[in-house]
Amino acid sequence: MTEFDLDVHRDPDGITEALVMDVRSGLTAAQKWLPPKWFYDARGSELFEEITALPEYYPTRAEREVLQRESAEIARVTGARTLVELGSGSSEKTRLLLDGLRGHGTLREFVPLDVSETALAEAVEAIRADYPGLEVRGVVGDFTEHLGLLPGEPPRLVVFLGGTIGNFLPAERAKFLRSVRDVLAEGEWLLLGTDLVKDPVVLERAYDDAAGVTAAFNRNVLRVINERLGADFDLTKFVHESYWDAGNEWIEMRLRALEDMTVRIPAANLAVRFTAGEHIRTEVSAKFRPAGVSSELAEAGFELERWWTDSAARFGVSLARARNVGA
Ligand code: AVJ
Repeated sequence: MTEFDLDVHRDPDGITEALVMDVRSGLTAAQKWLPPKWFYDARGSELFEEITALPEYYPTRAEREVLQRESAEIARVTGARTLVELGSGSSEKTRLLLDGLRGHGTLREFVPLDVSETALAEAVEAIRADYPGLEVRGVVGDFTEHLGLLPGEPPRLVVFLGGTIGNFLPAERAKFLRSVRDVLAEGEWLLLGTDLVKDPVVLERAYDDAAGVTAAFNRNVLRVINERLGADFDLTKFVHESYWDAGNEWIEMRLRALEDMTVRIPAANLAVRFTAGEHIRTEVSAKFRPAGVSSELAEAGFELERWWTDSAARFGVSLARARNVGA
């Protein structure tokens, strides 16, 4: 597998520049923060795959249960010719959809889009091997920037799984859903995975596992900044935490500084002061209620056609149709 098999919309310089901008705005803010997309270098993507197999991390299994049960129905309702997957990662759960759509006989093309070139390259190779005759076009890109470039014959089914929509803040989320709606023609489809509000103890554990994999995943963002920007973060001086924000109904992942320190980030021309006990917010993972999902979809120009959850009602999957939004 070479990169020639992928459409790469991110060059290495561009990635470093984007990271510099994010590090500058996030780490100079009064409440320090970093965008979660920077977790996912090769190591971070690997750690995330490990997270999905943890006993505490139920979302992957819950969503898989729904896709397993409903993939034939999804194929029947949509008749999709193109499956576009945003933030596809390893595309493991996507196979359930590919099987459903192939079984139905309409599917021609699969377009996975991911920021991680390594994860995407592996996924493209594996899917090509297992689905002969399926056109597979991997796109390396940021789904908040490169949506307009999505290829494929209609009707397309855009899938955004895993609850990753929860990583956006509410205003970004509305903008994102609207931008997905904008690249679709009326009658095309969105399949959206959303983790649901539940017992805070269950939620906090899902983001703070006993084996410490999530802690390593969280700290990986500091390693990425060290590697790409020549920074000198000492990863042992930051403690991982997961925190349920009941008002916002989201989980926050945080890295809390154990002592006073100054971190140098040469490529960003920055020295960042930390005081003992201060934290960086590294991820927001919003949890949803069914009524909220359907109203946010409606607001963005989608009509909710189906709503499913796993048998324990931990995770929701919605199938929505782009409706005529008029002028
Ligand atoms: C891949 C974004 C869905 O928010 O649950 C897992 C990432 N972070 N454990 C999530 C994640 C910590 C995950 N998503």
